[in-house]
Amino acid sequence: MKEELYKILEEAKKEIANIRDNIELEKMKVKFLGKKGPIKDVLSKLGSISEELRKEVGRVANEVKEELTKMIDEAEAHLKKLQKENELKKGVSDISLPLKKPLTGYPHPVSLVVEKMVNIFKSMGYSVADGPELEEEYYNFDMLNIPPHHPARDDHDSFYVMPGMLLRTHTSPVQIRTMKCFKPPIAIVVPGRCYRRDATDATHSHTFHQMEGLVVDKGISFADLKGTLLLWAKMMFGEETQIRLRPDFFPFTEPSAELAVTCPVCKGKKCNVCKHTGWVELMGCGMVDPIVLENCGIDSEVYSGFAFGLGIERVAMTVYGISDIRQFFENDLRLLEQFGK
Ligand code: DAH
Repeated sequence: MKEELYKILEEAKKEIANIRDNIELEKMKVKFLGKKGPIKDVLSKLGSISEELRKEVGRVANEVKEELTKMIDEAEAHLKKLQKENELKKGVSDISLPLKKPLTGYPHPVSLVVEKMVNIFKSMGYSVADGPELEEEYYNFDMLNIPPHHPARDDHDSFYVMPGMLLRTHTSPVQIRTMKCFKPPIAIVVPGRCYRRDATDATHSHTFHQMEGLVVDKGISFADLKGTLLLWAKMMFGEETQIRLRPDFFPFTEPSAELAVTCPVCKGKKCNVCKHTGWVELMGCGMVDPIVLENCGIDSEVYSGFAFGLGIERVAMTVYGISDIRQFFENDLRLLEQFGK
């Protein structure tokens, strides 16, 4: 009986080598391991032999059964692999494979701040304007009441590409371009990239972003500027935010001011971000100098306006706790991933 069992195994081995598909394999499984199979047949005769032999034959029968099952499982796996390879060759995709997470980008913190600011000012009725990054000295300086040799030009170390043409050092020239093209009432914000020939360090970058604001109409006063910026600060940093205006100087605004907000991180309680003052200085602003209005053909007896300008990276550094401005331009995914929506 043992020989009989070994013969069955040999026969199965021969047969399995010629199997070509799952149907044949299934048939073979039934033939050898099924209820009417040869192993079952041998086992049914166990009653007629001595107990000693019965044990021995039972052990061999189990061994053969295990071996057969293993062989069939292996053949099944092999067939599956072949089938998949064939499908891939034919270009049939395997819809049972797990989905790969699609690779998506992340909004850059600079874009997030711009988006939030633009939305706030849009909700107040402002339009978004833009202008060229390669700018004429005429718009970048002259028309903004910064004549040649004016000391304010020294603060704007510039990249000149040829005489009279430079990479804009601020977004203020778009004030001029807008006022020359459109009649008041004007209410615009201008997000954009600017360049200065600054030595790079933790707080200076040769490339950075600003957002300019300009409102021109009849009867615009400093109170409008103050009210607008207070509303902006509350919408931007939270209802509890307060603003502080201190006198400053800019050639294109008169009077000019520097605006600070209560520190968005410690809410004015003093921390590292606000250098323990409770305030963060964020923008320059003021009433548009009548000379600038007249430069653009706007009657300063009839119209008045206010303007403001701020650095986007400075806002982003404050709200996101980024301590080095260079991080905005290094595109390290570990930083950017944190801004995944
Ligand atoms: N353009 C100025 C700068 O880059 C910032 C600025 C100050 C813009 C006052 C303004 C303003 O519109 O009114 O330093």
